Amino acid sequence: MQTIYAHIAVVGTGAMGRGIAQIAAQAGSTVTLYDQQPAAVAAAQQAIAEQWDKQVDKGRLDATSAAAHKGRLRAADSLKDLADCDLVVEAIVEKLDVKAALFAELEGIVRADTVLASNTSSLSITAIAAKLQRPQRVAGYHFFNPVPLMKVVEVIAGLKTDATVCTALCAYARQMGHTPVVAQDTPGFIVNHAGRGYGTEALRIVSEGVADFATIDRILRDQAGFRLGPFELMDLTALDVSHPVMESVYHQYYEEPRYRPSVITAQRLVGGMLGRKTGEGFYRYTNGKAEIAAEPPAPEVAELPPVWVSTRATRRAELYQLLKDLGAKIETGQSPSPQALTLVAPLGFDVSTVAVVERLDPSRTMGIDLLIEDAATKRRVLATNPATRADMRDAAHALFARDGKAVSVIRDSGGFVTQRVVATIVNIASDICQQRICTPADLETAVTLGLGYPLGPLAMGNRYGPTNVLEVLFNLQTVYGDPRYRPSPWLRRRGAIGLSLLHEED
Ligand code: NAI
Repeated sequence: MQTIYAHIAVVGTGAMGRGIAQIAAQAGSTVTLYDQQPAAVAAAQQAIAEQWDKQVDKGRLDATSAAAHKGRLRAADSLKDLADCDLVVEAIVEKLDVKAALFAELEGIVRADTVLASNTSSLSITAIAAKLQRPQRVAGYHFFNPVPLMKVVEVIAGLKTDATVCTALCAYARQMGHTPVVAQDTPGFIVNHAGRGYGTEALRIVSEGVADFATIDRILRDQAGFRLGPFELMDLTALDVSHPVMESVYHQYYEEPRYRPSVITAQRLVGGMLGRKTGEGFYRYTNGKAEIAAEPPAPEVAELPPVWVSTRATRRAELYQLLKDLGAKIETGQSPSPQALTLVAPLGFDVSTVAVVERLDPSRTMGIDLLIEDAATKRRVLATNPATRADMRDAAHALFARDGKAVSVIRDSGGFVTQRVVATIVNIASDICQQRICTPADLETAVTLGLGYPLGPLAMGNRYGPTNVLEVLFNLQTVYGDPRYRPSPWLRRRGAIGLSLLHEED
C-alpha cells in the first residue's frame, strides 16, 4: 500500500517519538529518526524492534513483515539528513521556544511542501508556527501514550494552517490504524480539555470532606461505570503529569472557574506523592497493588422504622417499588409519622436544604441519589445531613443493603458524587461544542478512545437526561453560588427543549 507520506521523520525519540515511528513504519513509510542525544536514536530503534519481535513471538506479526518494518527505520546524525522528508513529526521537549526554533531550522532544510507537525499536548500550534516563513504547513498531531495502543490522534490547525494539511494528516492517521479527530487550536485541544471534569470535581468533593478517596472511586465505578475511579486514575497518570495539565488549561482560559485545579494535588505534587510510580499517591502501593481498606459492613439493625418518601423525590415511583422489594414498611400519608425515616432524592440540592424547604425533621431525613435508575447501578449512595440521627442513618444503610447491593453513606453536599461529576463532565463537553472546538461526533470519539470513559460525554448526558443534568447544574449553582456550575448555553438550550445532546444542528 502506498502511504500518503512515503518518507517521514520523527524528531525526539523518547516515549512518544518511538510510538509514532513504530506505527508509521508499520503503515509502510520510511521513518528517519533524529534526537539531539545520539544514543536516544539507537535506543529507540532497539525498543521498537523489540516490540515487533514480541509480536512475532506472540504470533501477531509474521517474521517477514517484522524485518520489512525494521528496514524502514533509519537513523539520522544531523537535521540535514531530513532534507527529503514529506512529513516531520516533532516529539521533543514541551517548550515553545525550543519547538519553534526546531521548525525554523527545519525550514532551511526541508522542501517547501514538507508538512511540519507537532505532538505538543499543551502549546498553541499558532504560537509554534507564528514566526515561520510558511506557517500554513504547520499542524498539531497529538498522539496519546502509549501510541500503538491509544488509537486516537488529535489533528489541530493553527490560525494559518492550510486545510489540506489537516486533511492529509487525517488520512495518514487512518493509514496508521488510528482514528483522527479534528480540533481547533485551543488550550488542551479536545481530550485534555474534556478531561477536566472528572478529576477536578472529585477533588472538590474530597476537599469538602463529603467522602474519602476510596469511597468516591467506588461510587463512580459502581454507579456511572467508569473503569477507574478519579483517584485511581490520577495515581496511574501521576500528579507530575496531571496537575500541570490542570493548571495549564485553567490559566490558558484566563482562570475560567470550570477548570479550577485543586490545592490537594498541588500539595501532593510538592510532597512527592505522585502516584503508582513513587509507590504512594492517593493510595499506597505494595508490589504494584493498591492498599485499600475494606468497606465497613452494613450495620445490623433489629427493627427498621417505617419509611416516608418526599413527594418531590426523583424517580419516586421507582423508589417506592424498590422499598417494597426491600420489604420496608412504607408510609403513604401526606407527611411522615413521628417515627418515620424520611427519604428525599434531590437533583443538585443538598439534603439539608431540601429538609428545610419541605419542612421535614432533619434528624430523621436522609438523601438517596437516584439520578441513575437503581437497576442500572451496582451501588446505592445515601447522604446524611448534619442533624441526621445515627439510628436513622444506620436504619437507612441497613435497609438499602438488604438485597446485598453495596451502599455508601456520604456527608451532605449539593448533588451527591455521581450527579456532580457527571454534570460537570457533560457541561464541559457542552461548552466544547458551544465553542465549536470540534464536532460533537469527534468529541465523543476523542473522549472514549483518549480517556476510556464508558460513554462519550454527550451520550452520558443523553443517558441520564439532558433535563436532569441541567437541573443538577442549576441547583448546584444555587447551593454553591459558584460560577463553575454555570451551565453552558449549548446545554441549556438542549436541556430546555429536551433535545438529544447528539443532535447536530443548533
Ligand atoms: P521524552 O522526554 O520521553 O522524549 C523527548 C526526546 O526529545 C528526548 O529523547 C530528548 O533527547 C529529545 N529532545 C529534546 N529536545 C530536543 C531538540 N531540541 N531536538 C531534538 N531532540 C530533542 O518526552 P515524551 O514524553 O516523548 O514527550 C515528547 C512530546 O510529546 C512533548 O511535547 C510532550 O508534551 C508530548 N506528549 C507527551 C505525552 C506523554 O504521555 N508522554 C502524551 C502526548 C504528548
